[in-house]
Amino acid sequence: MTVFQYKKSKKYTDYDTIYEQSSGPGGLQLAEFIAEKMKLAAGKKLLDVGSNRGYQTCFLAKEYRVFAVGIDPWDDRMQGNPMVDHLQKNAQHWNVENSILGIKTGVPDTHFASGSFDYVYSTTALEMVRVSQGIEGYMECLKEIYRVLKPGGTFGLGEPMHIDVEIPPDLEPYVSSGEYSWKKCFRSLRETSELVSLAGFEITESGYAPDAHQWWISYARHDPFCKQRPEEDPKTLEVDRGRWTSFGYIISKKPITS
Ligand SMILES: C[S@@+](CC[C@H](N)C(=O)[O-])C[C@H]1O[C@@H](n2cnc3c(N)ncnc32)[C@H](O)[C@@H]1O
Repeated sequence: MTVFQYKKSKKYTDYDTIYEQSSGPGGLQLAEFIAEKMKLAAGKKLLDVGSNRGYQTCFLAKEYRVFAVGIDPWDDRMQGNPMVDHLQKNAQHWNVENSILGIKTGVPDTHFASGSFDYVYSTTALEMVRVSQGIEGYMECLKEIYRVLKPGGTFGLGEPMHIDVEIPPDLEPYVSSGEYSWKKCFRSLRETSELVSLAGFEITESGYAPDAHQWWISYARHDPFCKQRPEEDPKTLEVDRGRWTSFGYIISKKPITS
């Protein structure tokens, strides 16, 4: 297997800040991994679905020189202000204010004109919709992404996924607790790919990220909530030892003839 070389994200080494300003495993390495697979080109328009505090969005604008619109419907659960406020602040910090726009909205109700974007990027966001809105809600989101992409445009999806095996019995209690338990959120690559195809996309590449385990370990070490609650996600990852938890990616295109 070819080893992925992190050429752009390796400049950013303050992992505590990276994991504080993004949410989920992978941080900027994940953003670079998906961006390279999507073959992002300068001057194009990208939509980041579920941008959260927008560190990945700013990284994409800075390093790939795309114009990036970040959408996120939630408010910060600690501070109460919209997540997209953090995106605008981070855009100043990254010196990309003129290449970033944050809008407090989400899929499927974006109200963007059809064919607005060259790229749609989404990491660690849609699996939560699948829990709250079911498969139908998840499909509505995929169809909206399809609608707002230009024909020929590229969709890069990254999600926490599980390997296609039964949950090891000793892991079961750890992945089953809570409203957004991993058991409810995570699907296999095969199941997710089927839904992406069903929405009309042509999948060009997909897989489990070769560095998924390392991304999860970094998350356990640096994410602020993990630091506060080592008995939760970090303990789950320790028990799992990479037997079930992974991270999948799916790169797909909206057909030109659509
Ligand atoms: C775990 S964070 C991931 C953020 C970011 N992509 C990253 O990897 O750092 C998931 C984000 O998805 C957002 N989200 C939830 N439902 C959404 C929806 N229907 N459309 C867009 N974003 C949504 C949440 O507000 C949250 O900020």
